[in-house]
Amino acid sequence: MLPSDMIKGLSLPVIAAPMFLVSGPEIVIAACRSGVVGAFPTLNQRTTDGYVQWLEQVEEGLALGPEPGVKQLGPHAVNLIVHKTNPRLEPDLKVTVEHRVPIVITSLGAAKEVVGAVHSYGGLVFHDVVSIRQAEKALAAGVDGIIGVCAGAGGHAGTMNPFALLYELRRLTDKTLILAGVVSTGAQVAAAIVAGADLVSVGTRFIATRESMASAAYKEMITRSSAADIVYTPKISGVNASFISQSITDAGLDLATLQHEGPIDMGAELSVDSKAWRDIWSAGQGVGAIRDIPATAELVRRMRAEYGGALDRALALRK
Ligand SMILES: Cc1cc2nc3c(=O)[nH]c(=O)nc-3n(C[C@H](O)[C@H](O)[C@H](O)COP(=O)(O)O)c2cc1C
Repeated sequence: MLPSDMIKGLSLPVIAAPMFLVSGPEIVIAACRSGVVGAFPTLNQRTTDGYVQWLEQVEEGLALGPEPGVKQLGPHAVNLIVHKTNPRLEPDLKVTVEHRVPIVITSLGAAKEVVGAVHSYGGLVFHDVVSIRQAEKALAAGVDGIIGVCAGAGGHAGTMNPFALLYELRRLTDKTLILAGVVSTGAQVAAAIVAGADLVSVGTRFIATRESMASAAYKEMITRSSAADIVYTPKISGVNASFISQSITDAGLDLATLQHEGPIDMGAELSVDSKAWRDIWSAGQGVGAIRDIPATAELVRRMRAEYGGALDRALALRK
């Protein structure tokens, strides 16, 4: 089946977002078997050979077919960091093509060569952006969809309000539009769709699931946090990102005196040994809606019920 048809058949218009040091094959398998898109960053494995092993594990897991009650498997996706300081880009892209990974989520750079390689086997490229200018560049490179990362998102969040971002992105393109940021419930997925998104990329909510690779302490801190506990700062990794303030304090750091020096080196920042993401925990402002650590399948079932309920309520309001 073509990846575009797999998108049409999703049980819920959701991508379980790729998250550095958090998403691996188990969450991808569980998400896809629940009928949504599952994704991991290739850099979550230390080497390209390790990445190949994870892809094989996912392919094996998906051979089990969808969960009972789910019509169709969701497609799996990987995240590639397209930046000159990422030495893994070329070998990881080669493996991605060999394994015909249905969806590739690109971050930082949108390169025509990457898009061409993924299109060669019918795969789709969705590109992360935080501004309209970045979206224009990505569309010029031929990507199939834009992931608009809004203010308050986990990871390298943007600063635009989601309504403003969606509106301006939709004015730019009819291609697949994905909202990323602060969506933790099925009702919020429905709100994003009503506001103009085709899909929603949900990150922070999936950190607190059984299959995520986050530590038990990280998951528990999420269930205790609220939006006011999230700080947006360039001081941890050199790029603006969202972190839970308690984890910064627990690591013995004080944002008031902390300086991050030197140019951006994605190869170093996104290495599995990176202290920034391993010891200081990222989450978005959607944390306040997260109070448990369910299995991924249970979470997707719950979100589907909330999504249906929200759409029913909206329809009932129609005059
Ligand atoms: C811990 C963490 C790590 C992340 N790592 C990546 C990454 O490696 N690549 C990427 O494209 N996005 C990454 N993101 C962003 C997510 O893919 C997604 O866009 C974001 O989490 C959505 O916002 P939300 O967390 O508010 O749901 C990360 C987010 C978090 C919370």
